[in-house]
Amino acid sequence: MTRKILVVGASGLIGHAVADELSKNHEVIRASRNGDERVDMSDIDSVRALFERIGDVDDVVCCAGAAPFKHVTELSAEDYEDGLRSKAMGQINVVTEGMKRVADGGSFTLISGILTTVPIHGSVASAVANGAVESYVVTAASELPRGLRINAVSPTVLKEATGYHSAFPGFKQVPAEDVVQAFVRSVEGVESGQVLTVWG
Ligand SMILES: NC(=O)c1ccc[n+]([C@@H]2O[C@H](COP(=O)([O-])OP(=O)(O)OC[C@H]3O[C@@H](n4cnc5c(N)ncnc54)[C@H](OP(=O)(O)O)[C@@H]3O)[C@@H](O)[C@H]2O)c1
Repeated sequence: MTRKILVVGASGLIGHAVADELSKNHEVIRASRNGDERVDMSDIDSVRALFERIGDVDDVVCCAGAAPFKHVTELSAEDYEDGLRSKAMGQINVVTEGMKRVADGGSFTLISGILTTVPIHGSVASAVANGAVESYVVTAASELPRGLRINAVSPTVLKEATGYHSAFPGFKQVPAEDVVQAFVRSVEGVESGQVLTVWG
């Protein structure tokens, strides 16, 4: 069955690959701050305006959000807030508005990452933001109405993310295709409240 799917962060490395794959069988709406459909997910009014423009959808996928990389002794309150506003509240905003707009039995798939529990230099703010995303997914799943599902995909560093490789010494890298399939599993499958790890 063809579904109408919103992909936030669709111009990014992961979001672009996910949007391209889902487009093979579904209608995909690509959104980001500078994309086809413009949205800043850290701003709830911007998220609400996006849904008003695009109308109801069957599924929502988020592949966006960032946190500052700094040593724990250098992280300020603002740094933590930046990471939480972007990666955690950004994605939570999309679900908060999206649950009024997603069809019965539809799904949300958010993104976290291996840094939630596996540290590298400067990853504390990312861990805090990712942890919030995963806690939200695991707990919100049981309260979502109308058979809505929610999962998070947690990738390790991608083969294609060459700019990050030196920051992940000795880590196995995964191809974007493996991460894409975790999103497909979440959107087209039956699971909910899961963190789908893609750690190689
Ligand atoms: N790359 C990896 O190896 C890897 C591994 C594990 C986890 N992750 C996580 O996966 C996510 C995506 O990573 P990526 O490498 O694909 O990033 P990316 O290439 O930098 O792409 C990020 C995407 O998100 C959009 N975006 C950023 N902030 C936004 C906002 N506030 N509102 C709406 N859209 C926004 C960007 O477009 P605009 O600039 O136009 O908004 C872009 O489309 C990140 O949260 C990252 O932490 C990545």
